[in-house]
Amino acid sequence: MSGAFVEDHRTMMSNFPTGVAVVTCADGEGRPYGLTCSSLASVTLEPPTLLVCLAVGSRTLATVARRGAFAVNLLHERAAATAKLFATPGTDRFAAVGWRPTAHGGLPWLVQDTLAVAECELGDITVVGSHAVVFGAVEAITLFEDMPLLYGRRRFTSWPEEEM
Ligand SMILES: Cc1cc2nc3c(=O)[nH]c(=O)nc-3n(C[C@H](O)[C@H](O)[C@H](O)COP(=O)(O)O)c2cc1C
Repeated sequence: MSGAFVEDHRTMMSNFPTGVAVVTCADGEGRPYGLTCSSLASVTLEPPTLLVCLAVGSRTLATVARRGAFAVNLLHERAAATAKLFATPGTDRFAAVGWRPTAHGGLPWLVQDTLAVAECELGDITVVGSHAVVFGAVEAITLFEDMPLLYGRRRFTSWPEEEM
């Protein structure tokens, strides 16, 4: 497959704006892992099910597979710096944000950056090339009143102002 064709696919998908999440998990010692993720999609409402696509080499993915659970932290519009942080290799991501384990499943919750947290039990994992499609059965949801961070055309932005 030509590099130009892959680049066309990337460009096409950059014109499909999304919200931005940080997918988190913690290992047996409570050590947190997480990465920025825009591949989040709703699969079904009944039962509440979502999917995320995680790079096969990701330590977060390995931790999710071992633990059998993960959290989806939906970022609010002031959390672009956190989105960049959790997309940057070689950084101590959790040292730079406020976080604590959720009450339901003890999964890492980015307390200052989220407008919602969904805690999921791990379902199927299907590997497609470089990424694993990870299904999650949603078990608990925490919602806050806020506006989402958006990502499209390779940049972060906010929801447009309401017209008067
Ligand atoms: C807006 C945005 C969305 C991203 N979405 C995904 C995604 O859906 N899946 C993924 O594996 N990586 C995604 N990434 C890239 C990862 O966040 C990045 O490669 C990160 O360093 C991976 O962390 P890890 O190496 O600790 O697994 C995204 C990055 C950005 C900036």
